[in-house]
Amino acid sequence: MNEKQRLENQQINQKSSADVKSDANDNLGRLKNISSDELISKYFQATYEPPNMRKAKKRLKKDVDIHYDFEIPLEMKEIGKGKKFLIRTYGCQMNEHDTEVMAGILTQMGYTSTEDTNDADIILLNTCAIRENAENKVFGELGHLKPLKLENPDLILGVCGCMSQEESVVNRILKKHPFVDLIFGTHNIHRLPQLINEALFGKEMVVDVWSKEGDIIENLPKARKGKIKAWVNIMYGCDKFCTYCIVPYTRGKERSRMPEDIIQEVRHLAAQGYKEITLLGQNVNAYGKDLEFDYGLGNLMEEISKIDIPRVRFTTSHPRDFDDRLIEVLAKGGNLLDHIHLPVQSGSSDILRVMARRYTRESYLELVRKIREAMPNATLTTDIIVGFPNETDEQFEETMTLVEEVGFESAYTFIYSPREGTPSARWEDNTPMEVKKERLQRLNALVNKQSAEAMTHYQDKIVKVLVEGESKKDPDVLSGYTERNKLVNFKGPKSVIGEIVEVKITNTKTWTLDGEMVESAVEVR
Ligand code: SAH
Ligand code: SF4
Ligand code: F3S
Repeated sequence: MNEKQRLENQQINQKSSADVKSDANDNLGRLKNISSDELISKYFQATYEPPNMRKAKKRLKKDVDIHYDFEIPLEMKEIGKGKKFLIRTYGCQMNEHDTEVMAGILTQMGYTSTEDTNDADIILLNTCAIRENAENKVFGELGHLKPLKLENPDLILGVCGCMSQEESVVNRILKKHPFVDLIFGTHNIHRLPQLINEALFGKEMVVDVWSKEGDIIENLPKARKGKIKAWVNIMYGCDKFCTYCIVPYTRGKERSRMPEDIIQEVRHLAAQGYKEITLLGQNVNAYGKDLEFDYGLGNLMEEISKIDIPRVRFTTSHPRDFDDRLIEVLAKGGNLLDHIHLPVQSGSSDILRVMARRYTRESYLELVRKIREAMPNATLTTDIIVGFPNETDEQFEETMTLVEEVGFESAYTFIYSPREGTPSARWEDNTPMEVKKERLQRLNALVNKQSAEAMTHYQDKIVKVLVEGESKKDPDVLSGYTERNKLVNFKGPKSVIGEIVEVKITNTKTWTLDGEMVESAVEVR
């Protein structure tokens, strides 16, 4: 598609989305007498389709456009002068980073940030849909914010992020939380200025959720949270369709950024003095698969390893796409750190098959073997789901033995949570919740034991710590992470915040290390 066609298309998209939105507003019926059921069905017919596995799997790779022309409309550049915003972020790093983009946009509109809800003119909840309890937290928060909104009708209260991409959630907000002013999804963050404008000057709730996945918008402003570590998106979306997971529906299909755009962003961060970047994607190992030329994560990491930035991490890896080329590049070390987060989800090949993870226990172990062969010191961490529908005791035991066999040094562990619209949510599940909870406890005990044990190996060793700031518990103590992502607390001068220093470990705990800063030392990790 040439540039002219692209622009025309963009205009068509914008026009239709605006029409649809004003439809939705008309439909809201606050001013007209229509029932919320009527307005919901009318609104969703126009703009949105709920998760549909068969349709989503047919989505085309090629209709993603890249835009380099984001601009805040002139008339909205001063809208926020003297006003404040607060964004509450739930969920994963992708959401954390989206919050930085929204904060960047709001800052360019003249708003400043605040931590105090009473002080805010705009409150946005950037939500996560991954498990039911993530959603419950947001509904709870809406309940807390209701009195504030009733007291201060000028406050703009918005819900965005992954939950907004779900039909059932939008329905629930329309029905039970009509005091919300604005709902928008993950594909249209760049329309925030227009959405705020409409929420400020319109009388109805603004609902703008796109089921068509977004294009890639390159030059969005970002108000990054810190000056030491930064997130860099390398791709958006996920095409893996694990049978339990909502992400492919809330984030859309896999779209890779162009390598040169990523490299330019990393160079820029290095020039600004950032010490660590984390490359982000739901499945970073699929990076490049949708590009029209032969280029993968290995190639990208190799390019990035040449940039003068001390630390480069990436998350999240999917075992299925972890290729030899990437292992070869990672093994060269340098600024590419040897901590790999490699979610396994289960140790049972049968469960992995019904999860549609497309690898087996054996092939996962083989991948681990290859990684360890190339990077003998690599730290491996993981994600695990217990109590997948009908998981048997034996199948759970396979997870326990796999955790031991690999020697994971930490793991995020979850009880399976059915998500509406995903295949597994329709399956009968005969495993009682009590059993699932017991399994989780046993698994956590094992993970804790392994973590504590891994920590003991650091006793009296010297590690390199990127100092992030004062420790949360004690302002006299500094804290930061080692190359292998262990949190270290130590005494040292505040002047080293933002620097990489050597720390001798004096005490080890289950999840953290204590130490003393050393002036000069033998190099170890
Ligand atoms: N893209 C990453 C994970 C993203 S979600 C990957 O595939 O590894 C983060 C973690 O949440 C997943 O690894 C999984 O362990 C967990 N998770 C996802 N859906 C879940 C569900 N329905 N119930 C419980 N945990 C879930
Ligand atoms: Fe979800 Fe990760 Fe599977 Fe994608 S790869 S469907 S994000 S668990
Ligand atoms: Fe949650 Fe969306 Fe991330 S569902 S885990 S915030 S991609």
